[in-house]
Amino acid sequence: MPTTTQTLTLVYPIGSRVNEQGHLEIGGCDAVELALQFGTPAYVVAEDDLRQRARAFVDALAARHEDFDVLFASKAFPCTAVYRALKDEGLSCDVASGGELALALKAGFDPRRIYLHGNARSVDELRHALDAGIGHIVLDSLDDFDRLERICADMDRRQEVLIRVTPGIAGDTHHAISTGQADSKFGFSLDLAPEAIARTQTTPHLKLVGLHCHIGSQLLDLAPFPAAIEAIAALGDFPVYNLGGGLGVAYSASDQPPAIADYVDAVVSSAHQLLAARDKRLLLEPGRALVANSTVTLYTVETIKRNVSTWVAVDGGMSDNLRPMLYGARYEAVIADRPLAPATERCHVAGKHCESGDVIVRDVGLADPAVGDVIVTPATGAYGHALANNYNGVPRPPVIFCSGGSARVVVRRETYGDLAARDVE
Ligand code: LLP
Repeated sequence: MPTTTQTLTLVYPIGSRVNEQGHLEIGGCDAVELALQFGTPAYVVAEDDLRQRARAFVDALAARHEDFDVLFASKAFPCTAVYRALKDEGLSCDVASGGELALALKAGFDPRRIYLHGNARSVDELRHALDAGIGHIVLDSLDDFDRLERICADMDRRQEVLIRVTPGIAGDTHHAISTGQADSKFGFSLDLAPEAIARTQTTPHLKLVGLHCHIGSQLLDLAPFPAAIEAIAALGDFPVYNLGGGLGVAYSASDQPPAIADYVDAVVSSAHQLLAARDKRLLLEPGRALVANSTVTLYTVETIKRNVSTWVAVDGGMSDNLRPMLYGARYEAVIADRPLAPATERCHVAGKHCESGDVIVRDVGLADPAVGDVIVTPATGAYGHALANNYNGVPRPPVIFCSGGSARVVVRRETYGDLAARDVE
């Protein structure tokens, strides 16, 4: 009998199951066959999962507020096919650089529905955004303000902007991904925001439509969101509020993130109460919560070493998943052809890179791991492909979209030729 995700834990993509062969199936595709067909390591995305989560955000907002938009925070998974799928679901897009902007445009996002962020944007990036007809630019500093004002004056343009505010509220998350505290490299503190707001009112080239606030990422507790909204309420009354992203996800079975609808409920009801926002435009900007659990990474076991611990070494590592090293992030791991088999041995799933810290999952129970097994780590959709790199000259993995039992490559595997593609000889 097929088993559903529930037995696999909610960390896996929606619709995953264990099939009649006892193999893990993602988007209707057998993970063992995917590994054979496309090689490993590989990011395997259940396309329907992406789409369902996008709809969950849109439906939750639509049920609670009239004038809203959901922006895909595309830094989480900057891959053309992901932009396209989320555009098809009706989302707008947040980009944090000229490169993400180029990808969003390539995927067909209407430039008027793109929002550009960044704390250190160059003149070129801003010009490129204006040339593309971008809808909104989020101002992050007074230098940013001066630069954009000059460019708009040169181009004889009036650009709609939001002002990013750091509300002095920090959520409980890794310090590297906390952005709401007063001493931050992002945005204007509550003390400095009034000056920025006043300046936009004196320039003919910028039109301030509202405030933006993003307090941090992988937040599993909802309390900081209303607190941040309360803090920015003191800054005045605006037609648009972008309340950022940050909703956390489950990386392992014991994580209990709020449901998308509960998060939206908390944010929207606080906005109604504290910002008198019933007739205002509310924007949310999720990244991780849209894409993290859509994806699993497949690896092949290359070696097993039993010394003090058991080291199960695979053909990827910190080049395809930097998060364990950067944030001490914890993942699950199973073996693709026996995902529900009881664990027989505590292991460290290690990467292939020349660093002792390159361990993808520490102290995980595996069922008789053997060389050649396909190891699966779920919840790698957010900031996996995004942070991938070529350390040790390791080519970056492909991205495979799976849906209804069909698989297609949407980003091919890098080649050794790609590694030298920028050489000038
Ligand atoms: N909006 C802004 C302005 C942001 O800076 C971010 C994330 C988001 C939205 C989306 O946040 P999310 O919903 O994904 O939490 N590399 C780190 C995460 C960095 C997040 C950066 N900003 C990680 O792998 O955990």
